[in-house]
Amino acid sequence: MKNTVSTLLQQKQSGDKITMLTAYDYTTARIMDECGVNTILVGDSLGMVMLGYENTLPVTMEDMIHHTAAVTRGVENAFVVADMPFMSYQVSVEDAVRNAGRLMKEGGANAVKLEGGAEVCEQIAAIVNASVPVVAHLGLTPQSVNAFGGFKVQGKSYEKAKKLVEDALKIQEAGACAVVLEGIPAKVAELITSKLFIPTIGIGAGSGCDGQVLVYQDMLGLTTGHTPKFVKQYAALGEIMRQGIRDYISETKSGAFPAAEHTYTTDESIVSRLTEEYDQNENCHNDR
Ligand code: KIV
Repeated sequence: MKNTVSTLLQQKQSGDKITMLTAYDYTTARIMDECGVNTILVGDSLGMVMLGYENTLPVTMEDMIHHTAAVTRGVENAFVVADMPFMSYQVSVEDAVRNAGRLMKEGGANAVKLEGGAEVCEQIAAIVNASVPVVAHLGLTPQSVNAFGGFKVQGKSYEKAKKLVEDALKIQEAGACAVVLEGIPAKVAELITSKLFIPTIGIGAGSGCDGQVLVYQDMLGLTTGHTPKFVKQYAALGEIMRQGIRDYISETKSGAFPAAEHTYTTDESIVSRLTEEYDQNENCHNDR
């Protein structure tokens, strides 16, 4: 059954944890959907894990539409949320509504996600007013990496934690249907979760949220180098891929691949006839 805004709300009410994973392409989205994940986030993290940028800031609307459309083509039941990239909603409310609309019309998303609290409430209200569900995003919001001076845990002081609670209440009031809480102390996330009627989805925000989200490259072991403390690795796909690729190179070089079972056959007489014809042609050429 298709997951919707109502499903997420019901899950919060019944205590059924919401599962969310990022995906950026058709094949991965299809596998996740088959496994029964509730929601798929086409995150602007694609800038880092798919396009190799240092952070999410260079990601464009065209990037997001391209990847969102690929994901939605592979999904039947998951609720697909598409990130609004940096500067696609901050400059004006009009921009925000137009770009949210593009992610729905051209990407086929079921909702959009944008980062920020009180400062983006006007945008949230206007997008919701245009019948587009909005997921908010608070805490360690990656588009503010320069303002934060790095990817640092947020909401550690009383004042900062209070600001997070206030922001969460404001984005709910503005009409957000859910909120991602990223990189904040577990107890602060738990408090926010208890004060909101909309679901909270945590990443590096402890187990007290109504759901969890992870970047799939991190949780399947495809990320190289540093992974944050909050990541749990559920599989070692990177190692499996490396082994498969090494085996392919070695078997191709040795001639073990392709074997008979990977090869198409034809009637021997056809090949003999062709060989004879071409041999004759060659002899004619040589005689000239
Ligand atoms: O872009 C993304 O993948 C995200 C998640 C980290 C929540 O925003």
